[in-house]
Amino acid sequence: MKIIVKDNYKGLSRFAAECIQKQVQYNPGSVLGLATGSTPLGLYERLVQDYKVGGTDYSKVSTINLDEYVGLSKTHPQSYHMFMKENLFSLVNIASRNTYIPDGKAKHLEEECKRYDRIINTIGPPDLLILGIGENGHIGFNEPGSSFEGQTHIVELKESTRRANARLFSSIEEVPKQAITMGIKSILYSKKILLLASGEKKKEAIGQLLTGKIDEQFPASALHLHPNVTVVVDELAYNRQISEAITY
Ligand code: F6R
Repeated sequence: MKIIVKDNYKGLSRFAAECIQKQVQYNPGSVLGLATGSTPLGLYERLVQDYKVGGTDYSKVSTINLDEYVGLSKTHPQSYHMFMKENLFSLVNIASRNTYIPDGKAKHLEEECKRYDRIINTIGPPDLLILGIGENGHIGFNEPGSSFEGQTHIVELKESTRRANARLFSSIEEVPKQAITMGIKSILYSKKILLLASGEKKKEAIGQLLTGKIDEQFPASALHLHPNVTVVVDELAYNRQISEAITY
């Protein structure tokens, strides 16, 4: 696992955007694994800016998102479908038929999980997967205790995760209690992984990740089982004292 420390969120977003641009320029038909949430917003903004000035071409790119809330339709303002549309898909030339996100409104959720696994196995693996990290170490919506062997599945969101995401809803009651998420096994199937973490709130989780201890109670620790992971943090998310004391 490689760790890169940037001065601030802007530097982190610029670095992540350049990784995606290089990937797509190297292979125009790349498959990108994408996350939602606050962390990748700066990265998506930079991709859009670059696209507008005639930069990278996404016409042959496919994308596979990590997760979606159960019960929210594709047009719900807080759905991850809407998030991706508003922050990236409608602003660059990605063909909508090449973008994949689990359907949180599927009638048969178990079937939907199987359908999504088939997509990951046929379209994927992602050449490059972007991850954020929850304060409790979740990746995708794989909460503490998730099996490292898991494929796409339904999860009960932890109260702390619902609280952290309540800022985007009018009240915590409106935050769905379940989500569909790519499993950790599918995450590890990606060829390259870039995990982004910004701000003081992520410092503890990043400190724990960098201890190198692998534990299902801390889902992000599964990334130590992958040969090509880069963790990009800003100064606020990086505990220099702890991290420099650790050798692994
Ligand atoms: C979102 C996702 C989550 C977030 C994590 C951090 O698709 O998979 O794991 O990356 O909850 O969220 P933010 O970036 O809002 O702090």
